[in-house]
Amino acid sequence: MDPLLQIQNVKASFHTKEGIVHAVNGVSLDLHQGKIFGLIGETGSGKSVLGLTIPGLLPNTAQVTGSILFRGEDLLQLDQKSLRKWRGGEIALIPQNPATSLNPVLTIGYQLIEAIARHRNDKTRKQLREQAVQLLTSLNMPEPQQKMRSYPFQLSGGMKQRVLAAIGMCGNPSLIIADEPTKGLDAMIRYQTVEMMRNVAHQTGAGMLVITHDLHVAESLCDTIGVMYAGQIVEQGNADELFQNPKHPYTQGLLDSIPGRGMVPIPGAANSLIEQSTGCSFYSRCKHRQAECSLNIPELYSCSITTNQGSTAGSEAAEGSKARCFLYDPSRQPEQNLLQRLAK
Ligand SMILES: Nc1ncnc2c1ncn2[C@@H]1O[C@H](COP(=O)(O)OP(=O)(O)OP(=O)(O)O)[C@@H](O)[C@H]1O
Ligand SMILES: [Mg+2]
Repeated sequence: MDPLLQIQNVKASFHTKEGIVHAVNGVSLDLHQGKIFGLIGETGSGKSVLGLTIPGLLPNTAQVTGSILFRGEDLLQLDQKSLRKWRGGEIALIPQNPATSLNPVLTIGYQLIEAIARHRNDKTRKQLREQAVQLLTSLNMPEPQQKMRSYPFQLSGGMKQRVLAAIGMCGNPSLIIADEPTKGLDAMIRYQTVEMMRNVAHQTGAGMLVITHDLHVAESLCDTIGVMYAGQIVEQGNADELFQNPKHPYTQGLLDSIPGRGMVPIPGAANSLIEQSTGCSFYSRCKHRQAECSLNIPELYSCSITTNQGSTAGSEAAEGSKARCFLYDPSRQPEQNLLQRLAK
């Protein structure tokens, strides 16, 4: 089946006083119906900019190229009027910052009822109210009736996040982009939110792009993971495989930095997104770096190879696993190629 969403070589940059910020620098990914694609990576790596590019919500200072195919249409070719038809209906964005995404002077109930009414003009106000309460209940909002009468400032960050999720879901979207959906939630609610999102994807067949800093959420929720670094996907593959057997030195460092896996931070800091590097963007922080890595930009190489004996090395379950690192370049000399060394 064709992917629900096909992002192809998308670049998004901003002209600023300091220079051009290359926030997203050639990202391609496929998202299938009923599947959850997780985007992880350090702060400033371009995750939210990519998420906002899809429904056309970047400020007009942004320059975007590439293509984003959704239901046969290239979203990057549509004007704002056509994009508005997709947004809030077929495409829902649950934004990263709940504090600024709700109207501070309107009650939660009013904002939620208005959002539902945009899709269901056949319902009475009472029915809309009931559906709003139902949605909040399904998102484990405590005292949903009372929350309907509350203003955003009376809710915690996690509660506001759930209101935004309810607003996003009320149009029965087939594509949901959720930016940090579990931020500010305690462990129990986080678990329930993950369960709820998984159920929505499986039951409605919606495809989800989930952006998260929470690597435990990414591991337990997502089918596929894309690891972003400096505006690029540096590793992509099946979630279980990626967490058990990370391939790219950046992914290895990222996973080693979380509690329970060593908590060893990656030394150094990410390069500025203004200067375009001539080589691998992770070069200065990489413990496997070699001279060539600073001179040429690596492609996304497949991480499985066929050895002389005909068996597949590097990953038993890593079908489709790819890393943007010369360690996996099949054209390299065998002694330089990590996979071939491991296969010996
Ligand atoms: N409107 C803008 N104008 C200029 N630069 C921007 C703009 N929006 C984002 N950027 C820059 O683009 C880069 C990527 O930002 P983005 O918000 O996508 O990061 P992120 O990966 O979502 O980070 P976080 O995990 O902290 O949310 C950053 O360097 C940011 O400063
Ligand atoms: Mg972000």
